[in-house]
Amino acid sequence: MAMAELSSSKTMSSLSSSYYSSQLRLLAKRRSISNRCLGVLSPLHRTRNAAISCSVSQNQAPVAVQEGEPKIKNDCYGVFCLTYDLKAEEETRSWKKLINIAVSGAAGMISNHLLFKLASGEVFGPDQPVALKLLGSERSLQALEGVAMELEDSLFPLLREVSIGTDPYEVFQDVEWALLIGAKPRGPGMERAGLLDINGKIYAEQGRALNAVASHNVKVMVVGNPCNTNALICLKNAPNIPAKNFHALTRLDENRAKCQLALKAGVFYDKVSNMTIWGNHSTTQVPDFLNARINGSPVKEVIRDHKWLEEEFTNIVQKRGGALIQKWGRSSAASTAVSIADAIKSLITPTPEGDWFSSGVYTNGNPYGIAEDLVFSMPCRSKGDGDYELVKDVIFDDYLRNRIAKSEEELVAEKRCVAHLTGDGVAYCDLGPVDTMLPGEV
Ligand code: LMR
Repeated sequence: MAMAELSSSKTMSSLSSSYYSSQLRLLAKRRSISNRCLGVLSPLHRTRNAAISCSVSQNQAPVAVQEGEPKIKNDCYGVFCLTYDLKAEEETRSWKKLINIAVSGAAGMISNHLLFKLASGEVFGPDQPVALKLLGSERSLQALEGVAMELEDSLFPLLREVSIGTDPYEVFQDVEWALLIGAKPRGPGMERAGLLDINGKIYAEQGRALNAVASHNVKVMVVGNPCNTNALICLKNAPNIPAKNFHALTRLDENRAKCQLALKAGVFYDKVSNMTIWGNHSTTQVPDFLNARINGSPVKEVIRDHKWLEEEFTNIVQKRGGALIQKWGRSSAASTAVSIADAIKSLITPTPEGDWFSSGVYTNGNPYGIAEDLVFSMPCRSKGDGDYELVKDVIFDDYLRNRIAKSEEELVAEKRCVAHLTGDGVAYCDLGPVDTMLPGEV
């Protein structure tokens, strides 16, 4: 998916002294501002298993709150440091247990839309308090503070903790959801193999960090491009987390496909259902018009122009990201954030009867004959418990099979290219120049 702020995780010893002193200044400044409301994971108090939240997490016994005299924990700042007891208040007594959500690339454009949705209750529901753990790069630390300040100024009742940091081993502690948006954008002259390597290393490290400190049932949504292969790298580096829990975001492609079909059929987009995106989040992705439905009828019965479906429609969806970059001058951000919210909601609410959604998931055991050991977008259904199952009753024709095979080939080639990051031996990179583009590449 679209590019966002690159996060890194230098160790304390690799920090330059100027960085160090600027951190000291930053910290001093933070402490002097009385109304600061964010917890910062500074290298100064870094220990590998340090608790990162600045207010009470579910692992800590809440300190009794005395009326008129809120207790402040020593190791944090401002309003998120106030101790609270959700069970003590009438309005919050029935709320669910707080969940920890990590967001990487948290100072980037996508996150700037997403974080406010997460904090408002729009994604996880009006009775679900959340803790947001923001991962960024050292370069983005100030911007991360700005994000956290805006979050505190928004007075979201459900937002109970905010912390920011640059070390995934700290930020991912106990997280139940990891929304991995941070990735390096492809620069001028950079080969796709180079991009795979650079971002692959980030995702390998984040996989290791999740494996070490996150909840063992953490759900991981990979958005940073190339998201399918990044998700594969991440899951291979997190052997203690079920491979099924890793997703590569293709929901934006699904939404784009629904919109195009609705436009062509002259109906509103809520009439389009059963939309699968198969394969890679790249220009080889396959928007499946064979199984999709409009007002409950097969798309091919509603849209008789089959040449349009095979050529124009498919092409528009595959390259929508690029078309957007040409208009905006940057990657999609708001619609990507909306699609991340949609993807999460699809996992935590039961899928409507007869319908399904697309997600890039691990192919082992898939019923379609797609090569194992890839992260491939396929049709999924959920009972609303955070898990999913693959949809079995889909049909194929030659066109669909051939297109899927092309995307599969591409992902197999990408996987060979990152073998050094997945524990599969020596990497061998032979990526064709045309079929290996991100939707945003021209
Ligand atoms: C998108 O689909 O909009 C993005 O993934 C485009 C890109 O390449 O950043």
